[in-house]
Amino acid sequence: MTKQLFIKTYGCQMNVYDSARMAELMAPLGYAAASGPESADLVILNTCHIREKAAEKVFSELGGIRRLKEARQRRGGRMIVAVAGCVAQAEGAEILARAPFVDIVVGPQAYHRLPDMVARAGAGQVQDTSFPPEAKFDHLPESREVAGVSAFLTVQEGCDKFCTFCVVPYTRGAEYSRPAGEIIAEARRLVAGGAREVTLLGQNVNAYHGAAPDGGSWGLGDLLRALAELPGLARLRYTTSHPKDVDDSLVAAHREVPQLMPFLHLPVQSGSDRVLAAMNRRHGASDYRRTVERLRVARPDLALSSDFIVGFPGEDAADFAATLDLVRDIGFAQAFSFKYSPRPGTPAATAADQVPEPVKVERLAALQALLGEQQRAFNAGCVGRTLPVLLERPGRHPGQLVGRSPYLQSVHAEAPSERIGEIVAVRIAAARPNSLAGIVAPPGRAA
Ligand code: 5AD
Ligand code: SF4
Repeated sequence: MTKQLFIKTYGCQMNVYDSARMAELMAPLGYAAASGPESADLVILNTCHIREKAAEKVFSELGGIRRLKEARQRRGGRMIVAVAGCVAQAEGAEILARAPFVDIVVGPQAYHRLPDMVARAGAGQVQDTSFPPEAKFDHLPESREVAGVSAFLTVQEGCDKFCTFCVVPYTRGAEYSRPAGEIIAEARRLVAGGAREVTLLGQNVNAYHGAAPDGGSWGLGDLLRALAELPGLARLRYTTSHPKDVDDSLVAAHREVPQLMPFLHLPVQSGSDRVLAAMNRRHGASDYRRTVERLRVARPDLALSSDFIVGFPGEDAADFAATLDLVRDIGFAQAFSFKYSPRPGTPAATAADQVPEPVKVERLAALQALLGEQQRAFNAGCVGRTLPVLLERPGRHPGQLVGRSPYLQSVHAEAPSERIGEIVAVRIAAARPNSLAGIVAPPGRAA
């Protein structure tokens, strides 16, 4: 008999990937996707610890799940509740204590044990937040049924950088790179399942240093060059990178590998050397400028994205002005920006010189105004151009499809659904703040 599985995913693409793998792992045990948590025999919250009050949000979500579980029990049914992801890793014991109806707490490195944990769930709460990353990839199932046009593939996990604001080194553990052969095999299966684009994922993806198929070790540049050889794999991307780990081989890949799309998310966090040092970012603002310059020499049309934190402890007006200067100098196609918020257990959380909230609010508004202006200008600059667009899925309006430009912009265009999976030339007619719209060029002009 089929059972129903509902997974709610928070946070980054890595969690989206992990959720898909958990669903695949449970499928042989008869679990199929539920339309909502009400009807689910197993509910998994795949949580994220990056944002402020992450644990609070999980507890409030769990309040709702508890009511559904009780309602199901009153009808004579059963619901197993699992908390996965980074909040599970960081606060597992507290979850089990505060939410006794939670059956399973499973950290990101222990997903391969989920079927066993589900089997044991009847006999009381089970927790696995251990950290053996190799084991996880060895034990996850191989099969990927339908990949979707654009697929994610985790190549690296964890982080050894210890930026002073960040929980990732604590929740995701030490850096681990999967062997290249395993990644190439998974990419092959994704392409066989219909993927045209693969985005390589890692918390610190360009620190990748996996075992090469012929012995030795490969960096991310080598891996990208090898993946570019796969027939049918039209587009490659990778995220998230650290500026310190952009090596010559990776820069060369941006020049040499046509499948590697001209868009890079390269978080800088701040434009002030003083703040960057306090963040333990291991590079200065001019290093970032030079890295971007090297990348743009290799790939002149490279569009950049970044993450920024304003109001980091000790950030003064001059530091913030340096961030605005850097943004003006580089020019970003898009970006994410956040107010600094203390994460328990990280060094910056206990720094004495915390920036007052109103100052953070004001700086965030100023930074977002500038970044928004740059994003609108970048999108407006695409109007009148013809861009190759990978059509991914139906749009909101009938007859419309949505795809991605090389620069990761969403592009809306009218086209029949049979064309999903094709890369078509789209003449861009309009730019909106977060997307483009255009007209598919007649066949024969395919990009
Ligand atoms: N406060 C604010 N922003 C943070 N980020 C990570 N930790 C914090 C924090 N404590 C942001 C960084 C990172 C992105 C994923 O989230 O900019 O690159
Ligand atoms: Fe966190 Fe990224 Fe710094 Fe690692 S490199 S500690 S994941 S911000």
